[in-house]
Amino acid sequence: TPDAAAPPVRVEREGVVAIVTIDRPKALNALAPEVLGALAEAFEELAQAGDAVRGVLVVGAGGRAFVAGADIRALAPLTPEEGAATGRLGHRVAALIESLSAPVIACVDGFALGGGLELALACDFIYATDASWFGQPEVRLGLIPGFGGTVRLPRAVGLALAKELIYTGRRIDAATAEAAGLVARRFPDRESMLAGARATVEEIAANAWTAVGIAKRVLVAASGTPTATAVELEVAGFEDAFRTDDMREGVAAFLEKREPGFRGH
Ligand code: HXC
Repeated sequence: TPDAAAPPVRVEREGVVAIVTIDRPKALNALAPEVLGALAEAFEELAQAGDAVRGVLVVGAGGRAFVAGADIRALAPLTPEEGAATGRLGHRVAALIESLSAPVIACVDGFALGGGLELALACDFIYATDASWFGQPEVRLGLIPGFGGTVRLPRAVGLALAKELIYTGRRIDAATAEAAGLVARRFPDRESMLAGARATVEEIAANAWTAVGIAKRVLVAASGTPTATAVELEVAGFEDAFRTDDMREGVAAFLEKREPGFRGH
């Protein structure tokens, strides 16, 4: 098929913004194993960019879907062990997104279902257009969420709504997702969403790169851990911030009533 010949994931750079496009529109950007492999490669490369990339937008091509889930055709013949390996590949992509210093914004326009919602949940936060739908329909296929849905969805929306969504396989629209705290910001269309996401990255880029990276590290590590552990992780991150030149500069600039000149170390 022409879909199989084209690279399923593209990375473009616009200044300090990187845009990762999942480009398999004929299958609603379903996450076939080669798409997951290409996503892993893309995030491994972005980790090499250091502070040249201050934020990453993840988008789906074609205008109908962010990602409609794992590729059901590819799941069909798998043995239980191969199924588990596919799950682990998805978790590897999530781990790469979470270990990247730069914040990653899922920009959802259309369906974010199953593994698609799970990919979005692995990102730092979700922006969405009004034309978006969210759900974990796996039980309709005899499956359960396998890329982190049972872990991150309850953290995002609370246990009650997460269970309702996972047991029913029901889809919710963008307004409902925003009200539930799943979506950070909602936009009328794709253009305004991408402009809003770029503006957010520019705003983040004006801050101390070191501090943003430490904050992300602490937020990711503390998520789901008991309060005492989370507090210790925060103390360690706070201490690390004191070790940076950027902290000395940021505090001095405030006291001297001038703009800070952050250097990223
Ligand atoms: C493979 C998919 C697909 C998927 C859509 N397509 N989703 N192919 N895997 N997840 C393909 C269709 O087969 C079809 O191909 C084309 O994309 C367009 O989809 P349609 O169904 O014709 O479009 P529409 O009627 O508008 O319905 C859209 C939809 C529906 C509601 C999103 O496609 C749908 O329900 N998709 C499956 C969603 C789902 O169950 N996702 C969870 C997957 S399991 P053709 O060739 O016919 O044109 C999962 C587990 C994660 O994610 C963990 C794994 C370890």
